[in-house]
This record gives sequence, C-alpha cells and structure tokens, in this order.
Amino acid sequence: MSRPALLPRTAPFGDAERAHLDAALGSTTALQRAWLAGFLAGLDAAGGSAAAAEAPAPAAPPRAAEPLTVVFASESGNSEKLAGDVSKLARKSGFKPKVVDFADLDVAALGKEKRLVVIAATWGEGEPPARAVRAYGEIMGEGAPRLDGVEFGVLALGDTSYAEFCATGKRLDARLEELGAKRVLPRVDCDLDFDKPAAAWIKDALKALAPPEPAGNVVAVDFARTAGADEDVEVSREPVTVEVIEHVNLNSSRSDKETIHLALAFEDAAPAYEPGDSLELYPENDPALVDQILKAAGLEGDAALRRALLAERDITTLSAATVERFVKATGHEEARRLIDSNEVRAWIEGRHLIDLIETYPAKLTAQHLSEITRPLPPRAYSIASSRAEVGDEAHLTIAAVRYTTHGRARTGVASVHVADRIRTGAKLRVRVKPNKHFRLPKDLATDIIMVGPGTGVAPFRAFVQERRATEAPGRNWLFFGDRHFTHDFLYQLEWQEALEDGSLHRIDVAFSRDQPEKIYVQDRIWEQRRELVAWLDNGAHFYVCGDAKAMAKDVRAALVKAFADVKGLDAAAAEAAVAGLERSHRYQQDVY
Ligand SMILES: Cc1cc2nc3c(=O)[nH]c(=O)nc-3n(C[C@H](O)[C@H](O)[C@H](O)COP(=O)(O)OP(=O)(O)OC[C@H]3O[C@@H](n4cnc5c(N)ncnc54)[C@H](O)[C@@H]3O)c2cc1C
Ligand SMILES: Cc1cc2nc3c(=O)[nH]c(=O)nc-3n(C[C@H](O)[C@H](O)[C@H](O)COP(=O)(O)O)c2cc1C
Repeated sequence: MSRPALLPRTAPFGDAERAHLDAALGSTTALQRAWLAGFLAGLDAAGGSAAAAEAPAPAAPPRAAEPLTVVFASESGNSEKLAGDVSKLARKSGFKPKVVDFADLDVAALGKEKRLVVIAATWGEGEPPARAVRAYGEIMGEGAPRLDGVEFGVLALGDTSYAEFCATGKRLDARLEELGAKRVLPRVDCDLDFDKPAAAWIKDALKALAPPEPAGNVVAVDFARTAGADEDVEVSREPVTVEVIEHVNLNSSRSDKETIHLALAFEDAAPAYEPGDSLELYPENDPALVDQILKAAGLEGDAALRRALLAERDITTLSAATVERFVKATGHEEARRLIDSNEVRAWIEGRHLIDLIETYPAKLTAQHLSEITRPLPPRAYSIASSRAEVGDEAHLTIAAVRYTTHGRARTGVASVHVADRIRTGAKLRVRVKPNKHFRLPKDLATDIIMVGPGTGVAPFRAFVQERRATEAPGRNWLFFGDRHFTHDFLYQLEWQEALEDGSLHRIDVAFSRDQPEKIYVQDRIWEQRRELVAWLDNGAHFYVCGDAKAMAKDVRAALVKAFADVKGLDAAAAEAAVAGLERSHRYQQDVY
C-alpha cells in the first residue's frame, strides 16, 4: 500500500525532488522529522548550505517544549480571554502551555509546576470571582503547598473605581511568593482598558519565564500538540453600529423604577451571540455634566475637548488614582493633603470628578483633563433575546441608575444615556461579550431553574425564547422578583404567554414591597424547596442572574439550607452538595 505524500504539490520542489523527499521522509517518525527541522534551521543559521555542509553547526536535537501553566480567575471572561492569548503566544514561543480555570485548579499539585502565569480578576468588593473562591481559599489557607522551585508572574485585572483595586491579583501575588515561588517579573494591575498593558505584560512574562537557551540551535517542539487545539471559534470583538428599533419603559408610570427594553437591529447579520452572552454598550456622558466640568476647569468653548469628554473620557469615576493624577497635573496643595493625610479613600466615597474639580479649583488644560481621566469604558448588558426567535436583532433590559450623594443628584452614565437621551431610530455602538460559563444545557431534555429578579431576568427571556425555538422538551422554571406586582413585573405578558404556550412551566414571583414584610426570591426558593430539590435531583441546571452584593449570596445560602432541610444533611454536607453543582457546571451565575 502506498503512503500518502507528505509534501504538498505547492512545495517549492520539482516533481522528481518531491518524490525523492517523500520517499526519504515517508518512514520517519515525528521525532525524527522534528530533529531534521531543527538541524536544517541550524544549518542555515550557521551560514548557508554550501559552507556549512562541510562544517555543519552543532545543531542540538530538538527538545520537548517547556511546560507553562496559565491559571485564570475570571467571572466575566476577560482573564479567561487573556489566558487564551498567553497560551497562543506561549506556544509560538516554544512553550507547551496548559490553561486552567481556577474553578478546576488542583491546588495541592501546584508545587509540581515549573512556570506559572496567574491572571486574576477582582469582583464584589475586593473578592475573587465566584468560580475561583474554592481554589483561592485553598491557596490562602494554612494547608497550601510549598511552591519552592515554581517561577511565576501575576497579571491582575480590576477597575480603579473600586476601593479594593485588583485586590485578588495583589493577594495572590504576595501569597505565591510567601509559599516559596519565585516572582520573575513584577505584577501589573490593569484597569478596564487592559488591552495594551496586558499585551505588554504577556510579552514580558514569556520572556522572563523562558528557560535559558542551551548551546546550539534548538527547535522546541510540542510533540503532543494537535492542530487547532486552542484555536477557539471567536465571536468578533469589534464594536458594531446598531439602530434602536424599540425603546420601551417596562415599569408603569407610577413605579419609582425605570427599566428600558431596547431592541437593537444590526446593520448586517447579527453577530453569533448565544443566550447567556452580553452586549457591551459604548455610552455617551451627560452633556450637562460635560458642560459643568468644562466650566469648573475654565475650558468652556473648546469644542474638540467637549466632544472628547462626551464620548471618550470617563468623567464621573473618582478614584484615589484620579486624585493623585489631579495633584500631579495641577500641583494643588490642598488636594495633595488629602493624599498625604490618607483621607483620600474616605473623601472620594460617593463623590465624582466634578466634586474634586469644584472643591479644589485649578486652572486646567485639555491635556490635564485627558491625563486625569481614563477612557470611558463600555457597560455590559445581558442579551435578553435569542437569535433563533428575533433574527438579526438583540434585546437589552436596562435599569436607569439614579441616586443622590453629598447632596448632588447623580445619574449612571450608560443606563441614563439610554433612558433619557436615546430614542427609536438612534444609533449605538456595541460589541458582544461572550460568557461560556452561562449556557443552556446541551441536552435539550434537561430541566432549568432560573433565578432572575429585576434586570437579572434579561438572560432568562433569551433562555426561554431559545428553548421555545428549539422545541426543547426540558422544563423551564423562573423565579422573578421586584418591588411591586402592578408596576414592576418586567415582561409580565410574555411570561403569561410562555406559560400558555408551554415554553415556561412554572413561575414563582416575589414582590418585596407589596406586603408589610419584605419577600425576596430566596424566600420563594425556600418555600418551594421540596419541588426544587426534586428538579435538581432530576438533573436540572440552576441559574442566577442579577445583583451580586446581596441577592446572589442569599440565593446560594437558601439553596444550601434547602438541601439540608429536604435531604436531612448537616450544614457541611449541604454546602458540599451545592459546591458539587457548581463544579459540575450545573449551578451557573452571571451577577453584577
Ligand atoms: C455581565 C454583566 C451583565 C449586566 N447586565 C445588565 C442588565 O441586563 N441590565 C442592567 O441594567 N445592568 C446590567 N449590568 C450592569 C451594567 O453593566 C451597568 O453597571 C449599570 O447599568 C450601571 O451603569 P451606568 O453607566 O448606568 O452607571 P455608572 O455610571 O457606571 O454608575 C454606577 C455606579 O454608581 C454608583 N451607584 C449606583 N447607585 C448608587 C447609590 N444608590 N448610591 C451610591 N452610589 C451608587 C456605584 O458606584 C455604581 O457602580 C450588567 C453588568 C455586567 C458586568
Ligand atoms: C460587580 C463587579 C464588581 C467588581 N469589583 C471589583 C473590585 O472590587 N475591585 C476591582 O479592582 N475590580 C472590580 N471589578 C472589575 C473587574 O475586576 C473587571 O471588570 C475585570 O476586567 C473582570 O475580569 P473577568 O472578566 O476576568 O472577570 C468589578 C466588576 C463588577 C462588574
């Protein structure tokens, strides 16, 4: 039987040469071919074939690519995406990379690693992402293994608008060193515009972690590599323009809340978003606030600056870093005292940039404002539609953020831009933010339980649409909550229709302010615990979306309590049951 030809017809050889080479190479092993590749590369590098053929450079045999472990702690996918970037670049640089989610990390075995890249985001108020909590706790805990002989670098992701900026990355960085690992490059703490600093850090990290080159020309080969192993199909991350084709307030006119349902039409085919993904929306600042800042800075009349402040700069966030940059730019002595006296963290609480500029007046230039502010970050919104049902559209459910601090009325940049200044026909820029950890079960017959109070209900509208369009036989159970039944029952008619057409099997609602005592979704979960545990025992997947600060924690605690009560487990066993659901990806959350 003849062997298939190794060399393609496009190889730069004549037919006879190709046949010779095929005959010679046909019986070689992968190791021999890799050795030849290294040898020939070495030969050329040593001065070309003729001279070198007489005295060939001492080409070393190929060595196996060096292992590199990239672990990521991620909630909304940024660190995970960067871990993928490290992996791709590492492979090109001769490493054999392995990417591990903190959720699956075997902490006890960490000491066996030679080189470790850690990419960690911070969530909540300085906490690790939910999926990372177990492994993070083990690393921080007393039973953590010694890591002598491990080389590492940490890239931290965060947001300077949070007091505990990049806390998870900072703590991991310190802890790995404490456990004996050797830091080979300084940690970098990234703000929301992390693309450039992260790319630069990744390059530096791979250089710092590279093993010393042995003598001779060596080609590192990942023998185990299979083609396309980590080349995920990626949804385009480029922002696209969409037209607003529906803009409806879902709350009644008597509600104290305002939640906008936006239907967006893509100019071309909708990007391949899936139920569970979000759209990042590029907002514009409030023009009235822009004018206040220009006035306070003595820069009225600068039209180019006004445009930049409207669409490009974050003119609300006030972090300690903003105050430091302000002091550096202006030399303002009183503002400097805030920093020197360590009062800055308390002072910025509830205040915005305008408060700083008005409290510490200084003559500012356009350059100063650019230096003081950071780029305006887009805001994520869960996609509330399924392409299977709405075609080339995407729907969002956006709650307007309005509040008062230090006697001043404040508005959320993106949500109030949408609520107050966007109407049908307007154009917006958006991009898809995939979330592969918030996905419907692959098996359409699996039941799902969805807990989504307030705007947390958005992705579940997408889930139910998708399950209807795909005629999924699994049952769908929704827990919804808000303030008042009559004013705040988001998508009420749609849920009623879904109950009628069989695409929703159960809905349990909790309206917190319709009775003297407050009732929340976790109370309904507790009331329905027997049925709920029966669904879970039957293989149901459990999803939570919405408020991260209280709701998500209370829901999880309610589920632990439900397991304990229904199954007669002690607290530790009930906790283990819920942790087991998380580890098997049957408990998924998308909270903010
Ligand atoms: C993955 C993901 C999905 C999301 N999905 C949705 C969704 O479907 N629908 C939705 O509406 N939102 C959603 N969000 C939240 C959304 O991204 C924005 O954070 C939200 O709309 C506020 O943005 P903003 O620009 O209007 O407000 P910003 O200008 O960002 O202001 C918000 C900030 O104001 C401050 N603040 C707010 N209220 C108060 C208060 N009462 N007192 C003091 N300070 C306060 C807080 O510091 C808060 O962080 C999601 C977030 C994530 C990460
Ligand atoms: C609800 C919420 C809480 C956050 N809390 C913090 C925080 O305490 N400190 C911080 O530096 N960043 C915080 N961030 C910012 C995230 O760390 C940042 O968006 C990061 O890029 C997310 O990375 P990931 O997608 O890998 O999870 C928070 C973001 C959200 C949405």
